[in-house]
Amino acid sequence: MKLVIAATGASGTIYLQRLLEQIDCRAHEVHLVMSAHAQLVAKQELEDFKIPPRVSQHPENDLNVPFVSGSARFDAMVIVPCSMATLGRIASGSSDSALLRAADVFLKERRKLILVPRETPWNLIHARNAVTLLEAGAIVLPAIPSFYSRPDSVTAIVDTVVWRILDQIGLSSPSAYRWGSDAAKPSRKP
Ligand SMILES: Cc1cc2nc3c(=O)[nH]c(=O)nc-3n(C[C@H](O)[C@H](O)[C@H](O)COP(=O)(O)O)c2cc1C
Repeated sequence: MKLVIAATGASGTIYLQRLLEQIDCRAHEVHLVMSAHAQLVAKQELEDFKIPPRVSQHPENDLNVPFVSGSARFDAMVIVPCSMATLGRIASGSSDSALLRAADVFLKERRKLILVPRETPWNLIHARNAVTLLEAGAIVLPAIPSFYSRPDSVTAIVDTVVWRILDQIGLSSPSAYRWGSDAAKPSRKP
């Protein structure tokens, strides 16, 4: 698969980190774009944010990249975490940076655009922007963890969201906890 993974200045760099760790970058082509604010938040939140070696990183404003044109074939774009500022810009049709242009292209080409906002509470503008994006075909997958797998660490909590992102991309994790499966029976945990 050919994937664009973008990050913006919402809290939740750890979601990005775990997603990058769980995509096999030898089997898939992964392009990473981080906004300036995403880089600031990453420094604040993680001591040691690591970009896997095979991931191609691009500046936020470099339009000399394939995924800003509909002519280049890509499978999915994920914005994780997605700030409400970026969500609003995409909803308004702004494509003033490579990151925004890429999102605009994925929508117009009817390709998978997965937005992972992390904000609470929402105001009416946030909610209306999310509706606009849903109507335009985006997948809005808020960074809201689940607890029925009884996660016992921060990483395990984060993974409950990352598994859902991987499912939406079409690269399901073999370790994902799935309700109703044998591995999800109550005896699995004390
Ligand atoms: C430490 C920190 C945490 C933030 N967390 C969030 C957040 O969780 N959600 C959000 O929408 N914005 C958050 N922001 C605000 C965004 O970074 C800000 O709106 C910025 O303009 C987003 O720019 P970008 O979308 O170009 O990355 C945070 C800012 C800082 C400094």
